[in-house]
Amino acid sequence: MIEDSIQELESRSLARIQSAASPGELEAVRVEALGRKGTLALIGKEMGKLAPEDRARVGKLLNGAKQKLEAAFEARQRQDAGAALRARLDAEWLDLTLPAPGPRRGYLHPITQIQRELEELFVSLGFTVLDGPEVEDEYHNFDALNIPATHPARDMQDTFWLDGGKLLRTHTSPVQVRGMERLGPPLRMIAPGRVFRNESVDASHEHTFYQLEGMMVDRDVSVAHLLFFMKTLLTAIFHREVTVRLRPGYFPFVEPGFELDIQCLICGGPGCPVCKQSGWVELLPCGLVNPNVLRMSGIDPEQWGGFAFGLGLTRLAMMRYQIDDIRHLQGGDLRFLEQF
Ligand code: DAH
Repeated sequence: MIEDSIQELESRSLARIQSAASPGELEAVRVEALGRKGTLALIGKEMGKLAPEDRARVGKLLNGAKQKLEAAFEARQRQDAGAALRARLDAEWLDLTLPAPGPRRGYLHPITQIQRELEELFVSLGFTVLDGPEVEDEYHNFDALNIPATHPARDMQDTFWLDGGKLLRTHTSPVQVRGMERLGPPLRMIAPGRVFRNESVDASHEHTFYQLEGMMVDRDVSVAHLLFFMKTLLTAIFHREVTVRLRPGYFPFVEPGFELDIQCLICGGPGCPVCKQSGWVELLPCGLVNPNVLRMSGIDPEQWGGFAFGLGLTRLAMMRYQIDDIRHLQGGDLRFLEQF
């Protein structure tokens, strides 16, 4: 009897749906019962052979079986998916209340710290902070600073020359020139920045280092003004009195020119590699602006005078933090940088 086999198929399939041990097995049962060539489909084909009065009853039975089985499959699938999700959530459980390691904080480079401190100081004294190009031309780096073509500083050994007569600035002094050109007198400016020299590297020499240029142009500027600002500067930098000495120094762009030295803060005088065993460190070359320099930038030296200085920021950082090798500063080693 066709009705018996439908009922028998239904209950057998329902039982197998319940007991299927894997998704693969469940799918096999589904194909076997409900697939296009499955048992229900085969039985459906037999319907044609039935007496017309039996067809509606058997057809209803067949449809009922089909719907029950489909519902059972879906229920079982939902149940499996739920179980799988629960298993996954259990396996991947994360304790969100557990304290995480905090974000790592960055550090300002010691030179940046000193630079910012000095910018603040000079701004409070009425100075403007100027920027200049690291790729300079010969005019601003040399000519306009009264450095003649025969001066040893122009030697290939010291300067990184670029194509087209350009160069990497060897000091921050060209920003003086740009400042005078742009702002005119009276003028108070500083220019911190990176400079480059074609030198062999050792504990106290780098090809790349930092300077801070300063310049003041006004009426009747004298060495007394220069000394006042330099003393103010040094006290602010070292937060204490440092021993200094002033020597005559030659720089083509100042006249008279001076070398302001401070007693070495690393060894305190007896001598060490940083002060080249001399006990003193050249820190602050300075002087009164050479009239030629004023004139070349369009300032009348009869009307105006000025002082200028070039502070070695890198050397200063070494003194301040007692760093005994300049190579640490550009080395990028976090173990070094994290100390500041
Ligand atoms: N530009 C000089 C250098 O790099 C430093 C310097 C000396 C700057 C004397 C000045 C100055 O402004 O007056 O070696």
